[in-house]
This record gives sequence, C-alpha cells and structure tokens, in this order.
Amino acid sequence: MFSSKLTFATLAILIVFTASRYAGPSNHASQELSAPTSLFWGKNNGISYLTVTRNHNIPQFCTSSWAVASTTVLSDRFKVLRNSSWPDYNISPQVALSCISGVQGCTTEGDPVSVYQYIYQNGITDETCASYQARDFSNGIACDRLAVCKNCLPNGKCDIPNRYFIYNITGFAVAKGVTQMVNALQSGPIVCRIGVTSQFQNYQNGILTPTAGAQVLFTSYVSIVGYGASATGTNYWIGRNSWGTVWGDAGFFNLVSGNDALGVEDYCVYPTPNKTITVVTTNNQGEEKRSYVDIADLHKLEEEPIQGYLRAKPVTEETLSAVPASWVWSDVKGKNYLSWVRNQNIPQYCEASWAFAATSSLTDRFNILIFNDTFPQFTISPQVLLNCGVGNCTGGDPTAVYNYARMNGIPDDTCQQYVGDFSETCNSAQVCQACVSPAPANDTENSVCNPTTPAHLFKVGNYGNLAGVTKMKQEIYNNGPITCGIYASKAFAAYTGGIFKEISRSTTISNFVSVVGWGIEKSTNTEYWVGRNSWGTSWGEYGYFKMQMYRDNLGIETDCTWAIPSF
Ligand SMILES: *[C@@H]1O[C@H](CO)[C@@H](O)[C@H](O)[C@H]1NC(C)=O
Ligand SMILES: *[C@@H]1O[C@H](CO)[C@@H](O)[C@H](O)[C@H]1NC(C)=O
Ligand SMILES: *[C@@H]1O[C@H](CO)[C@@H](O)[C@H](O)[C@H]1NC(C)=O
Ligand SMILES: *[C@@H]1O[C@H](CO)[C@@H](O)[C@H](O)[C@H]1NC(C)=O
Ligand SMILES: *[C@@H]1O[C@H](CO)[C@@H](O)[C@H](O)[C@H]1NC(C)=O
Ligand SMILES: *[C@@H]1O[C@H](CO)[C@@H](O)[C@H](O)[C@H]1NC(C)=O
Repeated sequence: MFSSKLTFATLAILIVFTASRYAGPSNHASQELSAPTSLFWGKNNGISYLTVTRNHNIPQFCTSSWAVASTTVLSDRFKVLRNSSWPDYNISPQVALSCISGVQGCTTEGDPVSVYQYIYQNGITDETCASYQARDFSNGIACDRLAVCKNCLPNGKCDIPNRYFIYNITGFAVAKGVTQMVNALQSGPIVCRIGVTSQFQNYQNGILTPTAGAQVLFTSYVSIVGYGASATGTNYWIGRNSWGTVWGDAGFFNLVSGNDALGVEDYCVYPTPNKTITVVTTNNQGEEKRSYVDIADLHKLEEEPIQGYLRAKPVTEETLSAVPASWVWSDVKGKNYLSWVRNQNIPQYCEASWAFAATSSLTDRFNILIFNDTFPQFTISPQVLLNCGVGNCTGGDPTAVYNYARMNGIPDDTCQQYVGDFSETCNSAQVCQACVSPAPANDTENSVCNPTTPAHLFKVGNYGNLAGVTKMKQEIYNNGPITCGIYASKAFAAYTGGIFKEISRSTTISNFVSVVGWGIEKSTNTEYWVGRNSWGTSWGEYGYFKMQMYRDNLGIETDCTWAIPSF
C-alpha cells in the first residue's frame, strides 16, 4: 500500500498546481458561464466543506451508494450553508435504507431522487439518531417507530430520545452534462451515477482516463466535489467514493471530464438544504411537539470574543497569563477543528465512552497539529478498540487506548463501522475489513468480510495524565482537546444546555468526555469548560456541554489524559 502522508497530499497538490500553472483553454472555459477554471470543495479558499468519508460496505455488504452519496452530499451542502462552522451535520443514510420502500436497498441500487423526495416529504435525522448498519427494510432494519431516531439505555431497551433534530431540504434538481454540472457545483457537491469498470475498482491515484470499450460491471453513485485541469491541459472531475479510505486516493478520485467518462456526466442530482431545523420534543406524557430553529441560532459554544483578560478567580501561576480568556477548538479564527459528535449507545447500549472520548480527542489533535483542518475528514475508529480487547461495553481506560495507539496505531472508521459489541482478542479482519457481495438475505445472515490493509494507522507518540485547571488549559491551548473522566450523575444525563454545576459526592469516574476548550459567561463572570460527550446530538448542546470551572464539578478536573499524534 501507499504511504499515508503521500496519499493525503496528492489531490491537494494537484489543485495547487492547477491554480498556479493552468493557463490554456479548457472545456470549462469554452462555456458561457463565469465559473472558475478549478473548484474543489475540499479546499476552497483554504477551507474544507467536505464531511467525513464513508465505507458503505461495512459491517455488511450493501449496494447503498445511492443512499450514502446522496446523504453525504446533503451533509456537505449544510456545511457550505454554515460556512464550514462547528458542528458538522452527518445526515443518516440508514433512514433512507430503512424507510424508502420499493426495490431500493442493500440488494438493488436505488436512486438519489427517491432520497431527496423522501427528505422533502419527511425530513431526515443524523447519524447519531440512526447509525449506518448496512441493512435495509428487507434484511434487518425495518422502518419501525425507532427507525428515524433512537437511543439505547443501560437496561438494554431503546427508545425515542426526548429531543432530536430533523433536517429538511427546500428542493432538489437534476444536472446533466459539463455545463450544468459545473453550474451546480458552484453551490456545493453533487451526486452522480457512474458505471464501474475494473479499472475504476483498481484506481489508486492520478487522473483516471477510462480504456475505450471497457465493460461496465455495475452502476453506482459517487459525489463530485470539484473539477480542475492538469498542467498538461487535461480537464478532470474530483470525486469522492464511499468505499472507505483504503480505496483510491484516501477514498477520492480524479476522472477525466468532458467526454462522459464512465457515464458520469449523464445523471447528477443535488439538493438545497433548508436552513430551518425542526426540533422534536416529547414530554413525559409522550406528547410530541415540533418547534423550528434557524441554523444560525442553533449552535453556540462561546460568548462573543472577549477583549482583554478577565478571570473569575485569580490564578497564581505566571504561565497561565499566556493562555487566552476563552479558547474553544470549535472556532479558532473562524476554523472548526472538532470532529463530529457520536453516539456510543446505538445500535445498542455500550459503555464505550473511554474509546469514543479518547479517539475523538485524538482525531481533533490530528486535525490541529498535523492536517490543519484540511480534507479529507476521517474519524479514528473506537470499534477497533472494542474488537481488540482494549476495553469492553462496561468500561475501559483512555490511557490504555493511547498505549494501544502507540504500539499498533488505530485505523479510521471506514475500516470498522461502530456496532457497539466487543471481543477479547482481535484478528486482522476486526482491525480492517472489506465485506464482499452478496448482501445478507435476511436479518440473521451476515456478509463474508475479509481482512484488508488500512490506508493509515493513526499513532500516538507520548501520552500522559494531568489534573487541575492550569495544566488542563495549557495542554488544551498548546495541543488540542484532552480526555477527562467524570462522574455521570442523573442531573448530567438530563442536561439540555447552559453551564452545568454539581459538586459530586461520588468519586467514581463513570464516563469519559473530551474537553475541547473553555469560555466565560460575562454576565456572571463564570468560567466554564466546553466538553463533548458521546451520547448523540440529542443530548446537551448538540452533544456538547458547558461545565463551571474551578470547582471540580463531577470530578472533571481530576483525571485527564493527553496524547501527541504521530504517524
Ligand atoms: C455564512 O456566511 C455568510 C456570509 O458571510 C453569512 O451571511 C451567513 O450568516 C453565514 N452563515 C452562518 C450559518 O454562519
Ligand atoms: C420539509 O419541507 C417540505 C417543504 O417545505 C415540507 O412540506 C415538509 O413538511 C417538511 N418536513 C418536515 C418534517 O419538516
Ligand atoms: C423550510 O422549512 C420550514 C419548516 O419546516 C418551512 O416552514 C419552510 O417553508 C421551508 N422552506 C422552504 C423554502 O421550503
Ligand atoms: C492553517 O490554515 C490557515 C488557513 O485556513 C492558515 O491561516 C494557517 O497559517 C495554517 N496553519 C498552519 C500551521 O499551517
Ligand atoms: C469488562 O472488562 C472488565 C475489566 O477488564 C472486566 O472486569 C469485566 O468482566 C469485563 N466485562 C465483560 C462483560 O466482559
Ligand atoms: C436467512 O438466509 C439464509 C441464506 O439464504 C437461510 O439459510 C436462512 O434459513 C435464512 N434465515 C431465516 C430466518 O430466514
């Protein structure tokens, strides 16, 4: 396999090359539109608008590119609408697989138009409500009352959360041919049909020029996320597949444009996100209420930037004057470095916060210290740690995660989909798997899944423990989020927003979180931590919380772990 740094860099280098070297005429320039000669939503004015890359063939084989590409394009378009600001929305393809009836599903490739029609009529939820399981209504995940949004509890039962979000679109359109595609791409990525040949299946990098007359093995859907021209004048599309990071150039590809290569210019679809989000709340009597919120008003982790240095409580350490009064990695000079919020308790309850907090802090730190929030977005896999006995569904230790990462490295989520189970020892397929056709015939059958070599292993150099406000602030500011243990009280489980306070009588650590920064509430001069939990977007402030600082609320200042990323 190829070296990790090289593959991550190849596409970006091509783009830079294009921008500075391209001069001659192109197919694009000959059209009557003032579109730029190159565009890439993974690096548009230095900013990535692309959400996380997926693998639709784990944990089962499933012909769901129609659902996965369509929902990923909608997630990206929400990210464009929100100027790439925190947080990403990850629209759920599983809802489309379960709830769009007819022949479409894991055994028959469907149509993006049906996905957008479904969303336009019903709205759709995110990955933390309905996580991807690569099964459809016919082989395991029916469109029952929990199909749209569920959360599972310690007693093993699952229910609809008291509050969750529905995302909607205002419409969608079809594009065909270079002019329409380039036009459509100005507002965000598009989903396009593609004829898969063996050459495409074996693609690794560079600009793919299909061999004439090659046999199309099957039809699939991909995202087109930009276009460009090489130094020698070859025009190409930039595409993203959903076959994981082991395929192609970290999951991406370049395909020659202008001559309908692989039929990619025949049929593309793209939605327009609705900026009004529906909030569904259910009261104790089980009555459902819907309210509406504009996405610009929904998310806020920090007060307005503070001038000067205010402090709720004087701190004697001189060094602390070097850190700002507020600092949250969701917005550092307008850039969000935080990975997406996850839900450890779907598809089933699993107390794996130790794995989620440790891997998501580490993912953030790769973004901050190594990639500077460039594409492609990846997620370090918590499931591999459960598969390999680092901990289990009743608990584990972030220090053990970082030790495992130092010894072995951890692949990304496209090697192992989170399923919420565990084993004592792992084989190579449990580290990285590729499932092969056919899709399971029913809910008791499973795909054959073979081991494959991960494209990247995310490693850790040094790691260690720390405690106390000063050390926490310094470590977060210098290197990124840290992983801290807390006692998850009943009040914390019921938290819906604001600055949480509870001096815990228990010293038992029962949950791990990422502490991603701190802020200050000006009206009361209260300093607080900002943390990310792994209980989905329906908990707290879109999965995050604020906790009063200096009082060791729930023990958050007692038991923290840090790790330095390395390749
Ligand atoms: C995105 O940026 C535009 C232009 O600067 C602004 O009008 C809009 O409010 C921003 N949207 C969000 C959600 O921040
Ligand atoms: C989604 O938007 C469409 C068009 O505005 C509307 O008819 C539909 O009721 C919306 N669905 C939800 C769940 O908000
Ligand atoms: C967006 O969604 C809101 C709430 O469902 C709805 O009232 C509005 O009509 C939608 N906007 C468009 C343009 O469809
Ligand atoms: C990270 O990217 C931003 C632009 O988005 C740039 O201003 C900054 O210098 C970059 N940082 C590093 C360390 O390259
Ligand atoms: C989970 O791991 C802990 C600590 O190693 C162990 O005591 C416990 O028995 C394990 N639980 C299960 C269900 O295997
Ligand atoms: C599931 O499918 C397999 C393979 O076709 C078959 O052997 C098995 O009997 C089926 N199980 C059920 C419960 O239908």
